Amino acid sequence: MSPRRLNVGVAGLGRAFTLMLPTLAADPRIRLVAATDPRGEATARFAAEFGARAHDSIEALCADPEVEVVYVATPHGLHAAHVAAAAAQGKHVLVEKPMAVTLAECRTMNDAVDRAGVRMIVGHSHSFDAPIARTRELIGSGAFGAVKMIHAQYYTDFLYRLRRPEELDTERGGGVVFSQAAHQVDIVRLLGGGMVTRVRALTGNWDPARRTEGAYAALLTFADGAFASLVYSGYGRFDGDALCGGISELGMRKDPGGYGAARARLAQCASPEAEAAAKAARNYGGAAEGATAGRAGTAVDAHQHFGLVIVSCERADLRPLPEGVQIFGDDGVVMEPLPTTEVPRKEVIDELYAAVVGGIASLHDGRWAMATHEVCLALLASAREQRDIPLHAQVAARDLPPA
Ligand SMILES: NC(=O)c1ccc[n+]([C@@H]2O[C@H](COP(=O)([O-])OP(=O)(O)OC[C@H]3O[C@@H](n4cnc5c(N)ncnc54)[C@H](O)[C@@H]3O)[C@@H](O)[C@H]2O)c1
Repeated sequence: MSPRRLNVGVAGLGRAFTLMLPTLAADPRIRLVAATDPRGEATARFAAEFGARAHDSIEALCADPEVEVVYVATPHGLHAAHVAAAAAQGKHVLVEKPMAVTLAECRTMNDAVDRAGVRMIVGHSHSFDAPIARTRELIGSGAFGAVKMIHAQYYTDFLYRLRRPEELDTERGGGVVFSQAAHQVDIVRLLGGGMVTRVRALTGNWDPARRTEGAYAALLTFADGAFASLVYSGYGRFDGDALCGGISELGMRKDPGGYGAARARLAQCASPEAEAAAKAARNYGGAAEGATAGRAGTAVDAHQHFGLVIVSCERADLRPLPEGVQIFGDDGVVMEPLPTTEVPRKEVIDELYAAVVGGIASLHDGRWAMATHEVCLALLASAREQRDIPLHAQVAARDLPPA
């Protein structure tokens, strides 16, 4: 029997949508029925490809009676308004990370979906990746004792990928803390149980041509005394994928000839406007679509990932990898393989579907995502004020719903 399909309307057909498209197009539980984006070339392409409707505003998309779920993939400064528009029409929401720019916006979004009685999932983030979920299950089994310390580290060329101006302006949600700590903190909170009590951090902002945070180092303390260190560089010439078997963030085997490609592409852009246009051109419906950075590589049986992660438990070290989970015990090292599925990022649809169709409480709901965002904002505040920042909006990790 074919599954009940969720009718999805998309707000924002940019890079995030381009990365989610292989999931949304291939998962039999999803039907793409409508979209809105000011880029007419993108909505025209969407309408033709999916036999779907193109709307000229978020309000019209949300008022479309066939749309059950709105996937909000617009820039994060618009997330709060777009989630409010969806909730006002009684639509469920999948909203991209980071959830919003401010904590006040996160609260408004949670209130709006609560009032409307609809469900909201925040993601994709790499804490959905199957090796992370399996590591969490292994921790939950109790076989290795309590988590004592987590280390997460990733070096990328994030800051040199093509950007809109606001992506390089911290006030408007730009820089690696908003966009990349959202992944890393979500992973670390999930593996550590969720309840972070305080944050101490330093941030790096050292390229005058791209005036926002490009790097950070942070220490997180959990309520049970466990602690975590997080390091991220988006200035990377060193490539953190080298510590993940040469597999890219998107689960592809990387082409070594691609070294320096992002910086070379950026060097072709004469102005911020030209850079934003070049970014849009590489997105869905754009003239240079198909050349999307980061997707380049050879397909292999590997999961997506977010760099090096090591969880030190009382009786073992656990290391999620693109191919599975490596368990370093007292008597040896065991690799527990995790085959991939046909649909990348299927875990996001599992959770969305379970919430909307099955009425199952989600892990990646608005309160979970707000707690992750609180950590990210505390990281910025700690670096600015040179002190520990205590946290107040943390929630414990729920057990993942069955796939
Ligand atoms: N989960 C991931 O892996 C991932 C990857 C990239 C981006 N993101 C997130 O996705 C969001 C979008 O970032 P992006 O890189 O895709 O940006 P982008 O610039 O590539 O795409 C944004 C799209 O939204 C459209 N848009 C702008 N205003 C709109 C409006 N009022 N209504 C409808 N569409 C509108 C733009 O025309 C563009 O097509 C951000 O929050 C970002 O952090 C997530």
